[in-house]
Amino acid sequence: MVNLTIDGKQVAVEKDATIYDAAKACGIKIPILCHDKKLHPFGGCRMCLVEVEQMKGRLIPSCTTPVTEGMIVQTTTDEIVKARKLVLELLLLKHPIDCPVCDAAGDCDLQNLTYEYKVNMNRFVDEKFNHEIDYENPLIERDMNRCIHCGKCARICDEIVSYGAYTFINRGIEAKMGTEFDGPLNCEFCGSCVSVCPVGALNSRPFKFKARWWALQKTKSVCSYCGTGCQLTLGSKDGKVLTTIYDENQGFHNGQLCTRGRFGYQFVNSDKRLTAPLIRKNGKLQEATWEEALAEVTSRLSAGKSDPASVAALATPRLTNEELFLFEKLFRGTVGTDNIDHSAGFAHEALTKGAVASFGVAASPAEIADVQKSKLLLVVKSDAYETHPVIGFEINLGVKRKGIALRIVSDKKGKLTRLPGAKTTVHAPGSEVALFNALCKSVIDQGLAVEGVAGLDALKAAVADASAEKAGVTAEEIAALAKDFASAEKALIILPIGQGYPGHNAALANAAANLAILTGQVGKEGAGLLIMGEKNNSQGAVDMGIYPKGTGLNAAAILDGCANGNVKTLFVAGENPVVSYPNRKKVEKALENVEFMVVSDLFLTETAAMADVVLPACSFAEKSGTFTSLGRRVQNVRKAIPAVGLAKSDFEILNAISQALGGAGYNNQGEVFTEIAATVPAYKGLTQACLKDEGAVYPVALSAKLVPVAAKAAAPAAGKLALVTGSALYHCGTMSRFGEGPMYVCPDAYAELNVADAAALKIGEGDQVTVTSGTGAVQVAVKVGKRVPQGVVFSPYHFGEGSVNTITDGSEVTYVTVAKK
Ligand code: SF4
Ligand code: SF4
Ligand code: SF4
Ligand code: FES
Repeated sequence: MVNLTIDGKQVAVEKDATIYDAAKACGIKIPILCHDKKLHPFGGCRMCLVEVEQMKGRLIPSCTTPVTEGMIVQTTTDEIVKARKLVLELLLLKHPIDCPVCDAAGDCDLQNLTYEYKVNMNRFVDEKFNHEIDYENPLIERDMNRCIHCGKCARICDEIVSYGAYTFINRGIEAKMGTEFDGPLNCEFCGSCVSVCPVGALNSRPFKFKARWWALQKTKSVCSYCGTGCQLTLGSKDGKVLTTIYDENQGFHNGQLCTRGRFGYQFVNSDKRLTAPLIRKNGKLQEATWEEALAEVTSRLSAGKSDPASVAALATPRLTNEELFLFEKLFRGTVGTDNIDHSAGFAHEALTKGAVASFGVAASPAEIADVQKSKLLLVVKSDAYETHPVIGFEINLGVKRKGIALRIVSDKKGKLTRLPGAKTTVHAPGSEVALFNALCKSVIDQGLAVEGVAGLDALKAAVADASAEKAGVTAEEIAALAKDFASAEKALIILPIGQGYPGHNAALANAAANLAILTGQVGKEGAGLLIMGEKNNSQGAVDMGIYPKGTGLNAAAILDGCANGNVKTLFVAGENPVVSYPNRKKVEKALENVEFMVVSDLFLTETAAMADVVLPACSFAEKSGTFTSLGRRVQNVRKAIPAVGLAKSDFEILNAISQALGGAGYNNQGEVFTEIAATVPAYKGLTQACLKDEGAVYPVALSAKLVPVAAKAAAPAAGKLALVTGSALYHCGTMSRFGEGPMYVCPDAYAELNVADAAALKIGEGDQVTVTSGTGAVQVAVKVGKRVPQGVVFSPYHFGEGSVNTITDGSEVTYVTVAKK
């Protein structure tokens, strides 16, 4: 520790602290403009000047000056105040004083400091800038006339987002924060640069002229897209969510969000929201009252109580824990059916079957915090960045700032593969289990397995015939990766799961767990296996028991039951099987056949349009409760706006149905959480009050064991391409189609081909093609590049038009032909 005196206060700080950090630690506020705690110090604005006695009273920037023993620092002498006023005058020389029409007004550091330092006149005069404003995209407005050259946008885009869209161009008074060839912004549109810009140079366009910053009601909540569980602050007014507000003190991610969190909230206010219940009459869905709709649903479910096997229920893992708990209690308890599932059944099996077998818990053994504590990250599927972008930011940071080694095993390359020192092993599609088995064999053969690990003999026998060849990679790649992983001080496997990755979820979790257990990379910080559930409450859905138990049917069997008449009543809360479950035609046929289907949802989705009763549900912004993110963090979700139209929360819907059927009733969702804490062992002792803003990670007691798994033999089909599915950047499930940000970044379904395959098929970028499999055909536009290897075609699964589930059947790989339309 280093001891120093600031404004007469004694303070002891870590030796790598700056004077600014030390002042902050003892409650002394030094003004800053270019500094951000997440970014490398820049020292560009000179707003944070202080005086150090040992430096002969020279004024120095506190944000870049390290502390030294015995330093005596003054932060607000007359001379310092004078210098800061001068800095502000010089910044205001070129800066337009257009606060009345600037969206940053009220949230602008320059405006606030000008006010605080009473800079009400300027001794200098010069012409203002006349830069053209960049309005090319619908998400970010770039007005470089207001830029104060703090460099934060360029640093965050480089250091955390790893995109590198900005750089300073020109010199001296002509200097400008520019883009490639000084053209319009063309990037991932994550919005990180907008969040850190201290002035109104970078603005969120969806928020433009919507409200003054100070008129917004601010509500701390949790993003409702992916499983990362980023905390966010919703800015609302007049019953509408108008923006998400950056708060650098929120969450492990310091307020950073991806496009979905930053610009995807508009689905809440979409004019496509359902605002009243609908009942099918004479073949058409027609508006009805809640009384009519609920009477229809309860009478149907009441009849189902005498034949519970004829009732089935699917719920989206986007609901709160409280809603999912009620859902489970209603169907498993009151109605008596075990036919309950979510996410097409297979999307959670990595937890409910895989992790249970390998670690004795249906949860990820590792937490998000382990990413930064690790020494080597092994990312399965390059898409971890696409599926969980803020985890991608964490990986970027760890690799670039801490030198954490990065290894990727994937069927295609992705953004992570371009990080410094990253080594990517591109394997044959669908051969992930074979690859992990080959890694385990190599660990054993190289004598790198930890001694005395239980079940080693059975694993040895199971992987005896594993080989690099079966995974489509070289023996040298396997040997090197196995050695790197086993010899790392702490190694963490990152495995995204979700509906985009059908196939061997449980087996893959076991195969990955085997490598971690075999090499002793479990039960310590920065190591183990981080299974990343796709949706905001995927972990919560598992914790609340939303999967089949005993003889209950899983999602696929439920749909078979609908098709063959065994399932007569289907309750669907927020799922959209028509687009997101495999084999669209089969799903549609099943849903056409089921006697009675009720869907609660925000939108008239492809599935809701087929229902007999449609119940308008609330979004996350219209209700309170909890979500459990990947890595087991339970967090408070808070209501920001009233329900849209006549929509009701799924809590209200399920509570009303439960009471009508003679089941339990609750006065509010808080009572349900109390019951969760009393009955779900992992949540024991938790209260919504004790979760506060930061939430709580529930502990797990691991009992790790090797679980041998057989790799399915890859069966490439001659003359066909291997179709792999997954997430497109900034989409998540099918809900992101209603968010402006995700739809701007990626508006339509597409098929991505390798340049060589495209050339052989005489297909060019943007061409419309027909992709045909054994289950159907879709027409989509083509992207051509080197990201996917030869012989592989990639397509994301989020879209209704050209939906890829028309041509997939739930296998990890589907063989297809691609032909120009
Ligand atoms: S939006 Fe994101 S990717 Fe685009 S310039 Fe800003 S920080 Fe970089
Ligand atoms: S655009 Fe904003 S963040 Fe970027 S340099 Fe200018 S003032 Fe700083
Ligand atoms: S979508 Fe996921 S990564 Fe993006 S802000 Fe929301 S929780 Fe975070
Ligand atoms: S905040 Fe220290 S130089 Fe800008």
